[in-house]
Amino acid sequence: MLTVGEAIRQRRSIRKFLDKPVSDEIILELLEAARLAPSGSNRQPWRFIVVTDTSERARLRQICLDQAFVEQAPVVFVCCADLTAYSQASRQKRAQEFIDYGVTGTLSGRFADPEFRDLLASMPDTDLGLYRAAAVANTYIAIEHMVLTAVALGLGCCWVGATGQEGEIHALFNLPKTLVVAAVLPVGYPDKVPPPRPRISISEILVRPVEAAVK
Ligand SMILES: Cc1cc2nc3c(=O)[nH]c(=O)nc-3n(C[C@H](O)[C@H](O)[C@H](O)COP(=O)(O)O)c2cc1C
Repeated sequence: MLTVGEAIRQRRSIRKFLDKPVSDEIILELLEAARLAPSGSNRQPWRFIVVTDTSERARLRQICLDQAFVEQAPVVFVCCADLTAYSQASRQKRAQEFIDYGVTGTLSGRFADPEFRDLLASMPDTDLGLYRAAAVANTYIAIEHMVLTAVALGLGCCWVGATGQEGEIHALFNLPKTLVVAAVLPVGYPDKVPPPRPRISISEILVRPVEAAVK
């Protein structure tokens, strides 16, 4: 298995896969990598549909703007963000777990104050749609955990953000409106590994220069 650094450097978006199935063990390992991702207030909004069925993959390809590799990959994860993870009931459940698991003592700042935590837990439900951006952002972290784990295990994948018209994937899998489709992730054994795509330099990503990055 590759180290994290090796997986980060070797990762490419793979859009051509070998005709070789992905084992259930690997599928579970990828889901486990997602499960362990961090999330704001430990809300864990990520939810997945594991698609191996050929006709479902073919329909997904159509929906995802006819991107052929979506059908070709032996397994496709439809990665969703669950808005109900932000409901008051979920919030209270997560807060209680912090107490049950004895991790409240590891919190700091205002979160170390039980009264502040009680206040957060007691806040009533608002429009869950307000949490859409947070839910998707947290789900993206889990997806990238899966991506890097796939690379470390010798597999390849490609993020698919072009997930079609609103409601198309919902209709295919009969999903509730509280699930937001964040991305689709086709996974398989790479057939063709492309050269690295260019990246902007460290100095370009720095809003304020640091000496170490000045050459
Ligand atoms: C959120 C997101 C959505 C993407 N959607 C697509 C997509 O729909 N189709 C596709 O071919 N590539 C997609 N990509 C892959 C990018 O094109 C790719 O990551 C980028 O060009 C850099 O290439 P690399 O991943 O090989 O380093 C997506 C990547 C991300 C992170």
